[in-house]
Amino acid sequence: MSEPVLPDALRIELGRYDQLQLIAFWDSLSSVEKHHLLEQLQQIDFVEMQRLATGADYAPNWAELAAKAAPPPAIRLHDSTAAISAAAARAAGEEALRSGRVAMILAAGGQGTRLGFDHPKGLFPIAPLSNRTLFEMHVDRLRAVGKRYGVKIPLFIMTSPATDHETREFFLRHHHLGLSQDELTIFCQGSMPAVDSVTGKILLASQSEIALSPDGHGGLLSALNKHGLLHQASHQGIDYFFYAQVDNPLVPVADPELMGYHILARSEMTTQVVQKRFALEKVGNVVSIDGKVQIIEYSDLPPAFAEQLNADGSLKLWAGNIAVHVFDVAFLRRVVQHAHGLPFHRAKKPVPHIDALGHLIQPSTANAIKFERFIFDLLPLANKAIVVEGDAREVFAPVKNANGAPTDTPAATQSALIALHGEWLKSAGCTIAPGIKVEIHPAWALDATEVQGRVEKPLHISSDTYFA
Ligand code: UTP
Repeated sequence: MSEPVLPDALRIELGRYDQLQLIAFWDSLSSVEKHHLLEQLQQIDFVEMQRLATGADYAPNWAELAAKAAPPPAIRLHDSTAAISAAAARAAGEEALRSGRVAMILAAGGQGTRLGFDHPKGLFPIAPLSNRTLFEMHVDRLRAVGKRYGVKIPLFIMTSPATDHETREFFLRHHHLGLSQDELTIFCQGSMPAVDSVTGKILLASQSEIALSPDGHGGLLSALNKHGLLHQASHQGIDYFFYAQVDNPLVPVADPELMGYHILARSEMTTQVVQKRFALEKVGNVVSIDGKVQIIEYSDLPPAFAEQLNADGSLKLWAGNIAVHVFDVAFLRRVVQHAHGLPFHRAKKPVPHIDALGHLIQPSTANAIKFERFIFDLLPLANKAIVVEGDAREVFAPVKNANGAPTDTPAATQSALIALHGEWLKSAGCTIAPGIKVEIHPAWALDATEVQGRVEKPLHISSDTYFA
């Protein structure tokens, strides 16, 4: 391999943007390392990085926006006055599923830093009795839904450079979890450099490696486009993407009712929400601002606005985002040219890096800023975006933090799964002894109604039982 030369123009650019630390070790690198670093450097847009690091790119006045925020118009749970009935929605969704017009996108590119699991989060074993991983839980459910409607529902999994290799290996080792190869597409999103939160300088992970992190779940649109998947989906006759994130094993995969509301309302982007449990709950706030549905992250919504109450004491901004969406493929194709215009959000995180002497620093507190795009920033681009309420006990139990944290831990997710499956069994007349764990595989039953069909004689369940 020829010895790479650092182009003068690049050296000048690095100097102009005060990023010469990135080539501080250049002379001591091997040829291979030089090639690698050069390739990474050439992909960085230093003008954009400077705008991001100085905050000059996008600084909405959240207090001003929050003052205008109203609850979103939504199809609430058990709302018998809604313009579209649940039965009509269900029928429309089932029809779309049966005719093969629905695919699923699973975002699985995050680094899962809070969980502290050393592998992609999809590989985390979460099922309370079977120990199935998050990936298995989603795929098992997807296959059961496909079976119910007599179709194969294609699955598109978005990974990132941080999770891609291990995810592919996992699927290979486990025979694609029973999916045929044409049902599964794994594609990788892009990444962004992390900068020192004080100096704004881009960090090095090693002497020849920039500290990169995934560019956020909003990197989906660019990634779909880059890998030609919007065209591929259209060629496959797919009109709707059901989108979810890997860390929530309760995701109501391709839920026909949700799909049907989307279709009948002619929505371009539909968001499932849940009633927030308390004002400062760490979920995005789905609101309406100047007649447009938007999401304000919990970290951006000033507490005084989050805490506003209605006359009956309920939360005014009640709708919590659970990151379950339905997209028209045609909508994504229409807005794809705006993919690079989606704003970057900042997250202060601990990022391992090397110091000026080349020593590895493992910070215990947040030392760096990561830049991420969020999928919900597509909402204002939709001509019509609707909001549909789901029951949190049925659809939302994300795995975010390690056990011991106050919320969103694996233990809390498992309790939610056990409680939900227990409810399904009780609705079929079963009784469950206190402290007993139950788990239901979706191939055995997908919901309470299917459980009722399965249980011929009500059982008394007195030991941990896995229905599979
Ligand atoms: P989070 O923002 O909660 O991130 O992502 P995370 O990776 O799970 O965890 P932390 O913040 O590092 O602790 C929510 C979902 O979006 C996906 C994640 O895989 C997760 O399922 N995601 C996040 C991506 O697919 N790509 C990203 O760049 C970021």
